[in-house]
Amino acid sequence: MSVDLVVRNCTVVTPAGRTSDAGVAVEDGTIVAVGRSDRLPDADRVVDGDGSVLVPGIVDAHIHNREPGLEYKEDWESATRAAAAGGVTTVVGMPNTDPVIDRPDHLALKFDRGEASAHVDFQSFVVVTSENLDLIPDLDEAGALGYKIFLGSTVGDVPPPNDGEILEAMESIRETGKRLGFHEENGEIIDHYTERFQAEGKNDPIDHSHSRPVIAEREAVERMITFAEETGAKIHMYHVSSGSAAEAVARGKDRGVDVTAETTPHYLWFTEDVMREKGNPARIQPPIRDAEEREKLWTVGMEQGAIDSIATDHAPHTPEEKMVDDPFGNTWEAISGFVGLETEIPVMLTLVDQGRLTLEEWVRRHSTRPAQIWGMYPQKGSLQVGTDADFTLVDPDLEWTLEDSSELHSKNSVTPFLGESFTGKAVTTVVRGEVVYDDGDVVGESGYGTRVRVDDD
Ligand code: DOR
Ligand code: ZN
Repeated sequence: MSVDLVVRNCTVVTPAGRTSDAGVAVEDGTIVAVGRSDRLPDADRVVDGDGSVLVPGIVDAHIHNREPGLEYKEDWESATRAAAAGGVTTVVGMPNTDPVIDRPDHLALKFDRGEASAHVDFQSFVVVTSENLDLIPDLDEAGALGYKIFLGSTVGDVPPPNDGEILEAMESIRETGKRLGFHEENGEIIDHYTERFQAEGKNDPIDHSHSRPVIAEREAVERMITFAEETGAKIHMYHVSSGSAAEAVARGKDRGVDVTAETTPHYLWFTEDVMREKGNPARIQPPIRDAEEREKLWTVGMEQGAIDSIATDHAPHTPEEKMVDDPFGNTWEAISGFVGLETEIPVMLTLVDQGRLTLEEWVRRHSTRPAQIWGMYPQKGSLQVGTDADFTLVDPDLEWTLEDSSELHSKNSVTPFLGESFTGKAVTTVVRGEVVYDDGDVVGESGYGTRVRVDDD
């Protein structure tokens, strides 16, 4: 038997362990064998992994791809080009676009645009506001991956529903079987401090961080866990930035609430000192925390397991919006968010190299768990025979420095990781058996990426 593709001579790593001198065989975009190189079938195309590490394709379930409507920042094509170059095989787009993704026709538009131009597979969240509670079942039917509520004001100014509406939304979403994620910052706390700091002339980038204190995040986590305990909804905490919020998630899990949580590479890597060193380009919501909170995020979140998954919160903005030319200028004139798709694997592999987590733990949090949390497993996030042949080859020993953000593939590539040095990088990205990125070049076709089907839609 000869199959379409064999990748051999790799160390295959899954959450269950690692196998050296191994690889994967693919037929019709599906995995047909995983194992020792010498036991794999003949193939029309054989890729020699050259000793690299092969993992199930990385799933980034939190990106702001900006299409429809904000294409001057990023679009599906550029975001998924960056994903391919970053070793990411599946992305999930956030709904704070223009229009916001709050109705079935807006979701259809988002999916259509993705089908037309994506390089890797994709999905989308839909937003729940006071205006669309009655559309929750229709949005499920329309194929949404999951739901999102913005609890505090952030980029896009999507207004939060009130607490009563959130309870009703949870009941309705519970019936769909899908999960509801939160931008978890208490809006009253952050609005209060934002106004006070502005009135007092506290205009430095670090003041933006302090206007959104840890308590705003922790309180929002605890309130939503209490609501989920009452309603039985499955909930998710996006971008957990602090150890205190991770502790709140752990308490929720202990109480039997189906609460999952993600953190991002930037909260694990930086402390708030980055605001004093790099200024507005590092501005993000929630903000990067102090060293004590970061350490607790590591111990409670990563070591004890409160944090399930890693995602970037890839959020491109133009250099003008990020005040690149005036990094310590009035922070209230800058916008929050920065790109991450091409630095997420390097950051995580560097942390592996530093001994902070194992390769297996990394793969679990960056591929398997996000796929499970959002109902895409085992089609995504596994190397099981019969599932999509998505995998990422990485060189865990490659030392490099991000010297110039024009090396990145987004339309706008402002990032606080500029100038940082890493050990590790994606070298080859394979989506459903097609090589979409190899050794520095995006080689896949725009439009090859397709929507990940969930349920029976
Ligand atoms: O910093 C952020 N940027 N936080 C968010 O919640 C949204 C994001 C964006 O869309 O730019
Ligand atoms: Zn986000």
